[in-house]
Amino acid sequence: MSFTQAHLLGIEPLSPPEITAVLDLADQYVDLNRRNQKHAGALAGLTQINMFFENSTRTQASFELAGMRLGADVMNMAMQASSIRKGETLIDTATTLNAMHPDLLVVRHPQSGAVDLLAQKVNCAVINAGDGRHEHPTQALLDALTIRRAKGRLHRLTVAICGDIAHSRVARSNILLLGKMENRIRLVGPPTLMPARIADFGVEVCHDMESGLVGADVVMMLRLQRERMDGGFIPSEREYYFRYGLDADKLSHAAPDAIVMHPGPMNRGVEIDGEVADDPARSVIQEQVEMGVAVRMAAMDLLARNMRAAPDTVMA
Ligand code: NCD
Repeated sequence: MSFTQAHLLGIEPLSPPEITAVLDLADQYVDLNRRNQKHAGALAGLTQINMFFENSTRTQASFELAGMRLGADVMNMAMQASSIRKGETLIDTATTLNAMHPDLLVVRHPQSGAVDLLAQKVNCAVINAGDGRHEHPTQALLDALTIRRAKGRLHRLTVAICGDIAHSRVARSNILLLGKMENRIRLVGPPTLMPARIADFGVEVCHDMESGLVGADVVMMLRLQRERMDGGFIPSEREYYFRYGLDADKLSHAAPDAIVMHPGPMNRGVEIDGEVADDPARSVIQEQVEMGVAVRMAAMDLLARNMRAAPDTVMA
């Protein structure tokens, strides 16, 4: 089998055949999810624990549903109310949970690198559901599946990733994935919201939407991540919307059949106009949510297969 990972910590370690393996299996789960009878047994008997140290609506719900549809026992740890608040370290929490013999740990954490660290301390498969500004691999995989289904391929496309790139783990994982699959990537946004040394990523950088969107097959909008900003990165939301908010006029510079994406949650009237977001002819934002469940089912299924094939090698 081409997917050989013990954990899913990021897109960085994945090979193109591994990415394709996840997407191919996810396609099958999309079909299952559209039936009335949505149960499959890939995770039957396994225990999945979701640990979200940061607020999440769709990602946590999506992982929960994915685990339940595959027959796992799914537990959500309320991390806000947990012992972390009483001073316990991340590692103490992890080793405590580890003693309960989970098979899959799904972790979101505000600090970059925290999920990798945790994976070294437990002997089950760990999935990164977003760590700081670092990676959000299942988001990039669900975006890739959405693009592949809408465009019929996942290579040689021009993808414009727009907005707050600097604070976005979604952008980082997407840049890695789309680059590995040989697409042309344009990052569009104000200089204050571009990461340092961005040219090292092998991408084009544009500071205005008109030139950034020209000929784009995919327009991916990002939320302004105010919770990660510690200063004035933009003059005002109004000014930002005027220059970088996606409306029908700016979208007219992209390819005529360009699709519009957003990982959610959206700030309508800040990075995207509500009418563009809701336009069924252009927006695939709801499809992204649908693909999210299928991709998470596929990722957990593949990790569980590797666990069964080599039960002793999962321990990092
Ligand atoms: C993203 C995240 O949490 O990184 N959202 C998500 O997973 N659906 C993007 C965001 O919060 O803007």
